[in-house]
Amino acid sequence: MKKEVMIVTGAGQISMAIARRIGFGKKIILGDKKVENANAIAKIMNEAGFDVVPVEMDLSSRESILNMITEAQKYGEIKYLVNGAGVSPSQAPIEAILNVDLYGTAVLLEEMGKVIAEGGCGVTISSQSGWRMPQLTAEEDRLLATTPTEELLSLEILKPENIRDTLHAYQMAKRCNEKRVMAECVKWGARGARLNDIAPGIIVTPLAIDEFNGPRGDFYKNMFAKCPAGRPGTADEVATVAELLMSDKGAFITGSTFLIDGGATSSYYYGPLQPGT
Ligand SMILES: NC(=O)c1ccc[n+]([C@@H]2O[C@H](COP(=O)([O-])OP(=O)(O)OC[C@H]3O[C@@H](n4cnc5c(N)ncnc54)[C@H](O)[C@@H]3O)[C@@H](O)[C@H]2O)c1
Repeated sequence: MKKEVMIVTGAGQISMAIARRIGFGKKIILGDKKVENANAIAKIMNEAGFDVVPVEMDLSSRESILNMITEAQKYGEIKYLVNGAGVSPSQAPIEAILNVDLYGTAVLLEEMGKVIAEGGCGVTISSQSGWRMPQLTAEEDRLLATTPTEELLSLEILKPENIRDTLHAYQMAKRCNEKRVMAECVKWGARGARLNDIAPGIIVTPLAIDEFNGPRGDFYKNMFAKCPAGRPGTADEVATVAELLMSDKGAFITGSTFLIDGGATSSYYYGPLQPGT
């Protein structure tokens, strides 16, 4: 029997947790810039009964994204997308964060929106970090949502002189992810498909561990200590949200971002995490 095809980007903990939750019985094309990461996750999953094909893919390159899509289409129409590839503020310079997390995600959602199968759905991973940044203007939001992908990084608000540091770049990228999902879900909807976004708080993964050991380590440790949940989350908890969004029970949900952060954002605005308290 022909299997449904699912693209998963980023061979990290969050992607793997989602792929394990919803990917059994599907053909999973797993793309990562570090092909050794894709190979390692594919090995773990294939030895647990999954069907994963690892491929090298750089999210910051349209050509590389298109190659991954072409590879996946060899197995049939693509029905599912999980985008969990990304770099964090302590892992990469401003330019790389904007190229991968902002531009790359926008291109992936655009290209997948041209080929996604009817009844299909996708989920991308933004971040709670974007929710801590003050609101942008309505016009800035509209520009992030709708500017053609190749012009995105030329926007005034994304010019190097207007980006303070890697955290600001990351927050702009994650805000852009949310806005792109809103704009793209309209196009996905025309094909009978859905697209949503999950904004996790601190989730224990290699990326978060790099943050704990980076320049903002104490800030992050304080964040989970003082959030209502009092702990960081797990990739499996993120997968629970993805499972809802990607199942028939989520059929009326599209264009939405789901915050899963143990209440850290609430505490940041109205509780003990408020800046200056
Ligand atoms: N872990 C957290 O606390 C947390 C919180 C909020 C948001 N996120 C987001 O979740 C997503 C997944 O993060 P994770 O914690 O599972 O990280 P992870 O480090 O476990 O996995 C990320 C993977 O992305 C890959 N990658 C990096 N750049 C790439 C590129 N240009 N092309 C293709 N692959 C690339 C890495 O090689 C790595 O395998 C990221 O977008 C991250 O910003 C994570």
